[in-house]
Amino acid sequence: MSARDTNRRKRNPARGPVGSKSDPERKASRQRRNDDSSAAKKPDATMQPHLPRPPGNLPAETLPLILEVKGDTDYALLDSGDGQKLERYGPYRIVRPEGQALWRPALRQAEWDAANAIFTGDTDEEGMGRWRFPKMPLGETWPMKHDGIDFLGRFTSFRHVGVFPEQATHWRHMAGLIENAGRPIKVLNLFGYTGLASLVAARAGAEVTHVDASRKAVGWARENQLLAGLDDKPIRWIVEDAMKFVEREGRRGNSYDIVLLDPPAFGRGPKGEVWQLFESLPAMVAGCRAILSDKPLAMVLTAYSIRASFYAIHALMRERMAGMGGRVESGELIIREHGEDAGGRAISTSLFSRWVPA
Ligand SMILES: C[S@@+](CC[C@H](N)C(=O)[O-])C[C@H]1O[C@@H](n2cnc3c(N)ncnc32)[C@H](O)[C@@H]1O
Repeated sequence: MSARDTNRRKRNPARGPVGSKSDPERKASRQRRNDDSSAAKKPDATMQPHLPRPPGNLPAETLPLILEVKGDTDYALLDSGDGQKLERYGPYRIVRPEGQALWRPALRQAEWDAANAIFTGDTDEEGMGRWRFPKMPLGETWPMKHDGIDFLGRFTSFRHVGVFPEQATHWRHMAGLIENAGRPIKVLNLFGYTGLASLVAARAGAEVTHVDASRKAVGWARENQLLAGLDDKPIRWIVEDAMKFVEREGRRGNSYDIVLLDPPAFGRGPKGEVWQLFESLPAMVAGCRAILSDKPLAMVLTAYSIRASFYAIHALMRERMAGMGGRVESGELIIREHGEDAGGRAISTSLFSRWVPA
């Protein structure tokens, strides 16, 4: 069966409702399904903490802002179509489902047939079983690079490979802020996953705090730090529920110049703490504002696999940052097909909203 055929019928968005979940998220999701009452329950507004709107004017706004990633030698979206996408991650060509690829592939079938790995996802098995390797069996991990930073790609049981390339524009923006600040900068990376953003920030000269609920993800991130030769850089790796961490930092009076948050739609902290984006995000953004330093540089929120437009997170960010001055810029992160023969189409992977001081 060809690479295209294998996935033809599995149309899920890149970081969409199913595909977006990393292993811990997936476990949490399964747990939620079993826990029928919580799955069926509507969010109860009376249970939410009262969050009065901060006084002061709303920040200026820029929208829509479309931030685009084009391919390079580390990563490229080679083609897409028929509900799938063909990407190059380091040395490997990978085929995965892509719900937004409504069109026909632009490249010849032979290009797709040259794939090294295809996410099948058509069974209930976990781990590597969900990947098919048409040429030869591949190991679970492989060497990757992002902008000169070495890290490990990994075939995970939920189609992800350890990096979300669309985040690169946020990372470049953040690195520029750190390098041009002319003073020590503290970065908080919430829901940090395999640590690429933390490594980019540390390399740019920041002191970084990385928080994720998954011990496995944090272990992988630490491995990436060694591989990248950035082990001398100040990164605190913390396995913790993101909300609890932010609340604790607020009580301790600790602050950060840049806060990144890339939360899943649903997740759980290490002690079973429930993260529900629609219920938890207002308090999270308020908590992150409370721990911004006196001279903050940015708060960057990305969201995916939610039934909302970027207008929704834009409105939330603006409201929560009232009185702070600056500007809220919101839109989508997209990846453009790369290469002369490709169709030049773009796939949107996520929504974002970021506050910047000027
Ligand atoms: C999509 S990943 C973030 C990707 C990351 N920003 C990047 O670009 O590499 C979402 C992460 O949130 C973590 N997570 C889920 N629920 C959490 C919670 N309650 N507290 C902290 N982390 C959580 C998951 O373990 C997962 O690593």
